[in-house]
Amino acid sequence: MKKYLITSALPYANGPLHIGHIAGVYLPADIYTRYRKLKGDYVIHVCGTDEHGVAITIKADREGKSPREIVDFYHKNVKESFDGLNICFDNFSRTSLPLHHKVSQEFFLRIYEKGYIYRKEIEQLYCANCNRFLPDRYVEGTCPFCGYDRARGDQCEQCGRWLEPKELINPFCTICGHRPIVKTSFHYYFKLKDFEKPLYDWLSSKAYWKENVLNQALSWVRDGLEDRAITRDLPWGVPVPLEEAAGKVLYVWFDAPIGYISSTIEWANKVGKPDEWKNFWLDPDTKIIHFIGKDNIVFHTLIWPAMLMAHGEYTLPDNVPANEFLNLMGSKLSTSRNWAIWIPDLLSKYPSDYIRYGLSHVIPETKDSDFSFEEFKTRINSELVNNLGNFVNRTLTFIKNYIGLVRHNLVGFRDQDLEIISEIENFPQQVGNHLENFEFRKALKEIMAFSQKGNQYFDYEKPWSTRKVDKEKTERTLYLCASMVKALSIIIEPYLPDSARRIRNMLGFSDQELKWEDAGKWTFDRDMELSKIEVLYKKLDESSNERVMILDENKREERAMDYVSYEEFMKMDIRIGEIVAVEEIPGTDKLYKLEVDLGDHIATLVAGIKSAYSKEELLHRKVPVLVNLEPRVLRGVTSNGMILACDVNGKPVLLSPDSNVPPGSKVK
Ligand code: 2FM
Ligand code: ZN
Repeated sequence: MKKYLITSALPYANGPLHIGHIAGVYLPADIYTRYRKLKGDYVIHVCGTDEHGVAITIKADREGKSPREIVDFYHKNVKESFDGLNICFDNFSRTSLPLHHKVSQEFFLRIYEKGYIYRKEIEQLYCANCNRFLPDRYVEGTCPFCGYDRARGDQCEQCGRWLEPKELINPFCTICGHRPIVKTSFHYYFKLKDFEKPLYDWLSSKAYWKENVLNQALSWVRDGLEDRAITRDLPWGVPVPLEEAAGKVLYVWFDAPIGYISSTIEWANKVGKPDEWKNFWLDPDTKIIHFIGKDNIVFHTLIWPAMLMAHGEYTLPDNVPANEFLNLMGSKLSTSRNWAIWIPDLLSKYPSDYIRYGLSHVIPETKDSDFSFEEFKTRINSELVNNLGNFVNRTLTFIKNYIGLVRHNLVGFRDQDLEIISEIENFPQQVGNHLENFEFRKALKEIMAFSQKGNQYFDYEKPWSTRKVDKEKTERTLYLCASMVKALSIIIEPYLPDSARRIRNMLGFSDQELKWEDAGKWTFDRDMELSKIEVLYKKLDESSNERVMILDENKREERAMDYVSYEEFMKMDIRIGEIVAVEEIPGTDKLYKLEVDLGDHIATLVAGIKSAYSKEELLHRKVPVLVNLEPRVLRGVTSNGMILACDVNGKPVLLSPDSNVPPGSKVK
């Protein structure tokens, strides 16, 4: 029996899940796991929330909450979304659990003792205004590799490279906007450079990986790897297990992947076989498969394997089938701009299988893909309702009404039936081949084509008219249609688990009775008495407007945490200003330096509106300005306020007073 340990990237417990997370990571992982389980392999799927790192502390700072409050809230929120979507984990853990801290500390100590970690005094970015070191996302600047101007201190979102804050060009503190200074501290470095050759050799044996994943990993190794700091000066995280390192914690990307191991240990404890985790992690024959999005490739194909090599006991990943990104109606998903569809909102409107079906078609397997509600609804109506639902319901209803049951010992099949029989026999293998190659969209197309053939066969054989003249032929037709329905009830299970169960129940099978290979067996070994037939799917109203789900401040749960009091709102001093001068800022194509007349003084502002407005369009325009915003230095220019504008899919659209108001007039 083959053994698989499937993992899904641990989502940060700092916000609700959106469609990009599901289509890019969790749905493919769940489909694959369900497939493997149906095949009879020994497989577990583990995950958990990633509860450390600056993604959490920044959110906590912003909300005026403790990191603990944030992670407790979002662990529950994220888990509810997974449950609602029937995304099943054998264990869903949390990295803030004592067990995970212990496993991470032991991991660190082992490679420290083996000499792969060393201490180094380093110069670090420090914000003198905020009085704090600026690790990771606390600092942004221009990426030295690709020139992206909002690269974070630990990673550039655009080119995916792992960075050190000090490498950023023109860095600024993301809390206050000030340019940081350099201060010394000491940190622990992982000897990544020592693993250049072993990683290269290991990657060279992975010709079966997805091309984009392998090429990206190989090209980074060829560029050369640097030793990296794996600790941080932060009050939240896994404490570094060395006396001399009081106050320091492990870098979140050091402890998070260890979460795959601690989640497996937790699973083993829960199933009452505490050593069973070793059967996965200590056996080189286990196939460990990490499902991730493309922004995590560097960590799963280089850093984590190098950590495992340094440790020396654990099995390395067999595959890392990373996906690209899902866009929403042509634009990149963005949580900060609220350009996303949140899973709790979707679940309040559609059954889980509708969402799984719509998202399965846009899994960004080989390139970025796009989601739109129009396509979603068309697919549900023309594919789920008119094709699959129609075939299942017409077959079962016909049997129930006119034949009564599916007789197991039916004989007399003719040549013309052989084609359908061979379709059924080949079906599991055809779909399975795609699934084994992580081709989830192709597999789903095969499934729908099979159902379409069922409809065509039904139409061609016309049982509604043959039943009056040739009862036996009618019974044979319906036997094969029922056999196709049975096959579908197994093969759709990875994609549509609720539908699969409902169909099997209507046919008279129990939940666990059928395995993947049973889909190819076209005969029934017992008479099937159908139970009550229910309509599988209902048409969606194509004219309803779901955009409201995106644009209506849809972060419901977050909103509850986000209320501002009237007093807080009144602290904002918003005034009408007249733009009296517009200047270019060298080296940026997004920003203008503006002089704005605010009645009693002229303020200098930096505004990111260059891509949308020419200088001429701006000059003498009157716009609302938040004037008491903390000054922020952008590209060497101090900005003393912010122009308020609409954000339409990332494009700024200015607002104007609708009659002539003097500069300096208050807005409230
Ligand atoms: O990018 C992210 O959302 C990370 N929280 C993924 C971590 S994956 C793993 F290594 F834990
Ligand atoms: Zn600062």
